Amino acid sequence: MAFAPRGGRAGGRGGRGGGRGGGPPGRGGRGGSRGGFGDRGGRGGTRGGRGAPRGRGAVRGGRGGKPGARGGAKTIIEPHRHPGTFIARGKEDMLVTRNLTPGEAVYGEKRISTEVTSQPGETNGEVAPATKIEYRVWNPFRSKLAAGILGGIDEIFMKPGSKVLYLGAASGTSVSHVSDIVGPDGTVFAVEFSHRSGRDLINMATHRPNIIPIIEDARHPLKYRFLVSMVDCIFADVAQPDQARIVAMNAHLFLKTGGGILISIKANCIDSTAPPEQVFAREVVKLREERMKPREQITLEPFERDHAMVACVYNKF
Ligand SMILES: C[S@@+](CC[C@H](N)C(=O)[O-])C[C@H]1O[C@@H](n2cnc3c(N)ncnc32)[C@H](O)[C@@H]1O
Repeated sequence: MAFAPRGGRAGGRGGRGGGRGGGPPGRGGRGGSRGGFGDRGGRGGTRGGRGAPRGRGAVRGGRGGKPGARGGAKTIIEPHRHPGTFIARGKEDMLVTRNLTPGEAVYGEKRISTEVTSQPGETNGEVAPATKIEYRVWNPFRSKLAAGILGGIDEIFMKPGSKVLYLGAASGTSVSHVSDIVGPDGTVFAVEFSHRSGRDLINMATHRPNIIPIIEDARHPLKYRFLVSMVDCIFADVAQPDQARIVAMNAHLFLKTGGGILISIKANCIDSTAPPEQVFAREVVKLREERMKPREQITLEPFERDHAMVACVYNKF
């Protein structure tokens, strides 16, 4: 499939299938349900389209974290098409991840508890006791990765069990959701050079054993090579003019051949004088030169202005 950017400046997303993401067919397509993130004005929210089938076992939402997902109405949890992510369908539809540390919020995000009972057919006629599962709401206005997922990116290159190198971890809000996605069998190597943010990141990681916080400059990957194994995916959100080079240096050291790279590009961090589309196109050229083959590009509208997310596959040889 040829590489072609999707999306334009003002949120209109061209090319194939605008407005993909969230849930099952019949709930959306373009501009499905909106809202769900009241703290940031309720724009956006989940946009439906292609998705996974409805999951079983969802009960009540609204417990924990911040006061409820509007009214504690019945919430159905459905798997999203990216394994490890889910859509909570209630009065408002929200992207959620399954909490690796039930009972704890990381940054005051809302939590939703569900009880799952197995069906008699699954357990030789016995009904197993209900199991509690907790999900954390993931706000696309606060996370580029969440914005990319709800914007309909085809591949995130991470799933339960994956090893992810996350560059630009900040205080770890999005990292915590990646930690939920990869789960107890996966690992997130989270690199952040600001000591201030790094403190929060380290704190958070003490509760989440699958996160290795690394307080270093991602421009010097040799400094942390003894901490990082080969990874399946690099996610980069460093917002630096030399981001492509930073990602390449880390990919050459740590990324498996055939591994995936997701880069959030903030146009005005790279060149505030050129039109964003031109900046994105130049970045894509740099990525190609470093053996990262772009597969897909979307804009992060309406969640972020003049940002793109580019998905690439790495070929070492
Ligand atoms: C846009 S913020 C990342 C937000 C984060 N991804 C999230 O969703 O919560 C960019 C972060 O990259 C960090 N950063 C910038 N340059 C870096 C570098 N060379 N090495 C490591 N971290 C860097 C900044 O300190 C900042 O915390």
